[in-house]
Amino acid sequence: MTAPDPLLQVRGLEVHFPIKRGVFFDRTVGHVRAVDGVDLVIPQGQTYGLVGESGSGKSTLGRAILRLVEPTAGEVLFDGTDVASLQGEELRRMRRRMQMVFQDPLGSLDPRQNVESLLSEPLRAHDLDGGDAGIAAHIRSLLDAVGLPSAALRRYPHEFSGGQRQRIGIARAIALEPDLLIADEPVSALDVSVQAQVLNLLEELQERLNLTYLVIAHDLAVVRHISDVVGVMYLGSLVEQASADDLYDEPLHPYTRSLMSAVPVPDPVVEETRERILLAGDLPSPANPPSGCRFHTRCPWRQETRCDDEVPVLREVAPGRLVSCHWVEEIRDGVLRPKSAEEVAATQGVSVRGSDADTALQPDALVQGIDAPIERT
Ligand SMILES: Nc1ncnc2c1ncn2[C@@H]1O[C@H](COP(=O)(O)OP(=O)(O)OP(=O)(O)O)[C@@H](O)[C@H]1O
Ligand code: SF4
Ligand SMILES: [Mg+2]
Repeated sequence: MTAPDPLLQVRGLEVHFPIKRGVFFDRTVGHVRAVDGVDLVIPQGQTYGLVGESGSGKSTLGRAILRLVEPTAGEVLFDGTDVASLQGEELRRMRRRMQMVFQDPLGSLDPRQNVESLLSEPLRAHDLDGGDAGIAAHIRSLLDAVGLPSAALRRYPHEFSGGQRQRIGIARAIALEPDLLIADEPVSALDVSVQAQVLNLLEELQERLNLTYLVIAHDLAVVRHISDVVGVMYLGSLVEQASADDLYDEPLHPYTRSLMSAVPVPDPVVEETRERILLAGDLPSPANPPSGCRFHTRCPWRQETRCDDEVPVLREVAPGRLVSCHWVEEIRDGVLRPKSAEEVAATQGVSVRGSDADTALQPDALVQGIDAPIERT
């Protein structure tokens, strides 16, 4: 079977925000390197899950793909067209094909508009109306697609539960029949039981409408459940990318290993003896990232050579598995052993927070353990 054509290709994408100082805020004293050289490809109809600590650049990457922020460098090819080359009407038409689902539907839906108005707005804006009757029929089919009754039409966002509001957000996102949905923490604000329903809805819609997804999430269980491929971001760059199964079965990059080591295992005996890899210190500032490997200030496997001064490239270490670490083979084969968080902290002169892997990303004990499927409801 041949691989489906890529719908989205991101090459060398950078987003650097200027840091302004001075009385009139006109002096640039540095840059926040929110996204700093990301390459990724999403084939048509597939889901790419993006995880990473708070501040690692996930949302900025999503927004730059949609050109809601201007990239500093790099390319975004959507269906073969460089998005940066588009202006005016062409850009508007391209935007219609790429939509965003936000974490907080209450914040992203105008509280003064009822559902009918919220859903008809994008249709009218893009002249997809077919008259009032056409719009009404289209809105009814949208509500049906996201599992809301037609009685919802006259109600306002605050009258719905969180899960229902996210359904409205999704209905709005698919109103213009897009090809790509970028969902930024689509279920983080929802109760666990509702998370499963909304994820299942996204999967059903993907199948029915042949949608392609970029799903950003803190929750490792959510990303595993929904993704074909997962990318792990650290300080603006991808450190590992693999199929969801490979990544969860055997994480290779030291950062991914530390994140996965915090995921609880359903078996109580294994859970009791599970080895935890705690990280020293906090996420460094993207305005002043560490030299060499950006993870070296916290890495339990850091070596005297290469790690501090040579940037590791994201390279294929096994079919379909990309990792940016100089020593990944030696780590995988057990030739190199990890240092404790205390030892790493002592070398770097920082304190051991020891909780980063637990708090930075939710391994999500709540979502029924990592191996449990999310029930279809
Ligand atoms: N408009 C902006 N101006 C300046 N800095 C910004 C801007 N937007 C984001 N940043 C910075 O860029 C970095 C990446 O932020 P981003 O929101 O993309 O991270 P994230 O991975 O989505 O985090 P979270 O999980 O908390 O949502 C952060 O240091 C943030 O402070
Ligand atoms: S390159 Fe060195 S510091 Fe970076 S992840 Fe690999 S071992 Fe750790
Ligand atoms: Mg974000």
